[in-house]
Amino acid sequence: MDGAREHAMADELAKEFKEHSVAEFFKKNKQMLGLVGKIRTLTTIIHEYVTNSLDACEEAKILPDIEITLDELGTEYYELTVKDNGPGLTEKTVGKAFGQLLAGTKFHRMMQSRGQQGIGAAGCTMYSQMTTGKPVRVITGSGKGKPFSVEVSIDPKANQPKLTNFVELNKDFKGVAVKAKFKGVKYVNSEQAPLEYLRRTAIANPHLRIKFRSPTKETTIFERTNKTIPSKPIEMRPHPKGATVDEILTLSKSTDARKINSFLKNEFDRMGDKAISGISKKVSFDLNKDPKKLTWEESEEIIKAFKTIAFIAPRTDGLKPIGEERISKSLKSIVEPEFLSVITRKPSVYSGGFPFLVEVAIAYGGKAGRGMGVKDDEGVEQRKIEIMRFANRVPLLFDGGGCAITKAVQSIDWKRYGVRDMERAPITIFVNLISVYVPYTSAGKQAVSEEPEIVEDIRLALMDSGRRTGRYIVGKRRLQEKKMKKETFLKYIPEIAMALKKLTKENEDMLKEKLEKLVIAKLKLEEKEEEDIPEDIEEAIKITTIDARGNK
Ligand SMILES: Nc1ncnc2c1ncn2[C@@H]1O[C@H](COP(=O)(O)OP(=O)(O)OP(=O)(O)O)[C@@H](O)[C@H]1O
Ligand SMILES: [Mg+2]
Repeated sequence: MDGAREHAMADELAKEFKEHSVAEFFKKNKQMLGLVGKIRTLTTIIHEYVTNSLDACEEAKILPDIEITLDELGTEYYELTVKDNGPGLTEKTVGKAFGQLLAGTKFHRMMQSRGQQGIGAAGCTMYSQMTTGKPVRVITGSGKGKPFSVEVSIDPKANQPKLTNFVELNKDFKGVAVKAKFKGVKYVNSEQAPLEYLRRTAIANPHLRIKFRSPTKETTIFERTNKTIPSKPIEMRPHPKGATVDEILTLSKSTDARKINSFLKNEFDRMGDKAISGISKKVSFDLNKDPKKLTWEESEEIIKAFKTIAFIAPRTDGLKPIGEERISKSLKSIVEPEFLSVITRKPSVYSGGFPFLVEVAIAYGGKAGRGMGVKDDEGVEQRKIEIMRFANRVPLLFDGGGCAITKAVQSIDWKRYGVRDMERAPITIFVNLISVYVPYTSAGKQAVSEEPEIVEDIRLALMDSGRRTGRYIVGKRRLQEKKMKKETFLKYIPEIAMALKKLTKENEDMLKEKLEKLVIAKLKLEEKEEEDIPEDIEEAIKITTIDARGNK
């Protein structure tokens, strides 16, 4: 190609250059938001609305009451209503909340919350618009002024909300109710479907009351088992060990500080005078310089210096676990197991800069595990293991294969804890990862990436909990074996007594009585040899909850 033609080609291509907005991008890549597959899309949409309601209620210190109604309008065509009793939205915020992608109140703060990016609600509006051509209707009241109803849609080119049909309402209402229609989705009742999502949400949020009406008009209510609102998580500054060059540069442009040293002290956790003097010795420029003039190369130098300094580990007091007692109460009420052990690990740190905390529970027997729809010889439904994964109390139902939690569960040799066949055990394993910054594997937020510290901490908690569960399982099995042995022996006593009577001419009843005593004495003797069995094993078979300190 000669020079002139090359130039013409570049000119031609230049005409093709177009910008597109974030809304257009996600419209094309909706799978990145988890809006893929008919069942998954519906669960994801409910998840987005429910997590928003929970975040809003928690922040406003309100005990959440969420009502969800799903109506079937046609084939793979549904109308969803999610109503909460939270703080509500105003005329100013309703458009941004439901009609603008990457707009929200949570992105810029280091605080434990369910939502982070500001794409959930608007992503659902866009999906509704794409599949039905209709806006979503939001009814909201904030306690100030009259509640109102408004239709929200998105202008994808500009990523701007469009509000239509605004009506003031003459009734009392505080909270948000969103009504939206979706096509190309499907309601079923499976492990990855809305009802299971809500059941798990209820388990991890004992202070929540959820009412759900399915398209077949069946109503399920998960009552709250605890009336205390979780305390509001504290906003935490980033720890230097987790910082990136780009983050420093971005923060430096919006700071009020006049010098880099005070900027670093203001913006980062654990940045004392000693650390500053350490950094000043490692970098080639003066830390009294204006942070707005910081260059990329200088930011790189700061990050390099951070790596050589022994900072105190990040603060962990901003992490708010559910708590052993609450997990236990809610699992007892929803899973109704025979045995339950709950463990909360101490806060820890991954990648040097991000605090996290792990809560684990193992429920055994009763309704633990998932029913397989097949009954055994005694008419009892067979159950299989169920792994419930959560991040900041949000159930993770999809992409389990690539998740750190699944990997940790699979890495354990459960036979050591008395579980002979893990696939067929009536066991529910509950794992909740709490962090200000959950390392998800993708924007769909369904799997936790395999950070070695996180995997190890989950493993330790599972092993601890597994040991306790194992003691119970082995104890129960031995007791059952003993009972069976006793029954077998007792079954043959009349025959043996009769034969003995013929041989010895002794009284048959007396022989029977002695033989029975012998069987019981023999089994008792064995009981003494088996130290693992608690004396009052019958008592232990009732639900036992053990916390991390071993208290019952
Ligand atoms: N039910 C609600 N009550 C009060 N405020 C809400 C409600 N739903 C959404 N919001 C507000 O709208 C914002 C945008 O919600 P959206 O779900 O899009 O993003 P997010 O929750 O911040 O992050 P993520 O994309 O991770 O969910 C929220 O940050 C919140 O301020
Ligand atoms: Mg959200």
